[in-house]
Amino acid sequence: MNNTVIKSRQLNMPKLGLGTWPMVGEECTRAVLQALEVGYRHVDTAAAYQNEDAVGRALVETDVPREKIHVTSKVWWDKLAPDDMRQSFDNTLRALQSEYVDLFLIHWPGKGCDLARSIETLVSFKEQGRARNIGVANFPLPLLRQVVEGMGAPLAAIQVEYHVTLGQRNLLQFAREHEMALTAYSPLMRNKAHEIPELVRIAEKHGVLPTQVALKWLLDQPNVAAIPKASSRKNQSSNLASFNVQLDDEDRALIATLPKNRRVVSPEYAPQWDPPV
Ligand SMILES: NC(=O)c1ccc[n+]([C@@H]2O[C@H](COP(=O)([O-])OP(=O)(O)OC[C@H]3O[C@@H](n4cnc5c(N)ncnc54)[C@H](OP(=O)(O)O)[C@@H]3O)[C@@H](O)[C@H]2O)c1
Repeated sequence: MNNTVIKSRQLNMPKLGLGTWPMVGEECTRAVLQALEVGYRHVDTAAAYQNEDAVGRALVETDVPREKIHVTSKVWWDKLAPDDMRQSFDNTLRALQSEYVDLFLIHWPGKGCDLARSIETLVSFKEQGRARNIGVANFPLPLLRQVVEGMGAPLAAIQVEYHVTLGQRNLLQFAREHEMALTAYSPLMRNKAHEIPELVRIAEKHGVLPTQVALKWLLDQPNVAAIPKASSRKNQSSNLASFNVQLDDEDRALIATLPKNRRVVSPEYAPQWDPPV
């Protein structure tokens, strides 16, 4: 596997992407254009972020050809009835000014929806070639297993919160067994990495930043991608440069001692989470 790209089944996804929530409008277009200039080739958006149109403008304005950019988008959990899903997906492609999206995800498991029909609809987007790959976000392991093993859905990725203080060992093992990528959202714990003394120590030892240590710990792991949100050129560049950081066994052992149950994102519509390991 190339160091910077996850190649698995039909997926060809750069390991580091730009998170775009909560940027909207001109701010979001500018941040995406700047990220593409800096070297990013992976952008994460969603219908719920209300910024797909802003991302779409950047995709049109940039000199980087569309086929060189991996774009992920998502359908919100209250739009999982087949007709709603199809309409939401059409809106996504229209807003992105694209004939396809590289990866299309169900954003959260829906409450009271007919999961089999939602998954069937998701799979139809892949069969039409309008979603190059499909996946889910925020699905706990039993539900993911039901979709992948029970329904045989060809999922290429799962997106979940994952960082140095939240364990995802079981999901990651499942993802690897099924040749799926695991994309880590909130990889900087929403800008709390610099407050973790162990990360500060490791960063000082290598002359780098705690944020870079947090990201490299993820990027070093097979099948794992990370999508930190950063608006300034400085932060975007620094996050991309985390590929140059060399962590050693001592660093990884120290990170292993951190608590693994510090979830940052858990809205009231969240499912029952897997026990953190
Ligand atoms: N699937 C889901 O349910 C889900 C849920 C949450 C998030 N996401 C996705 O994941 C992305 C990232 O997650 P997140 O936004 O929750 O959290 P995050 O990426 O962990 O943290 C973002 C925060 O870190 C700051 N930051 C980034 N790079 C930095 C650096 N080098 N130095 C200092 N500060 C830095 C950003 O500030 P600046 O902007 O000022 O640089 C921002 O305040 C989202 O944007 C979204 O695309 C998905």
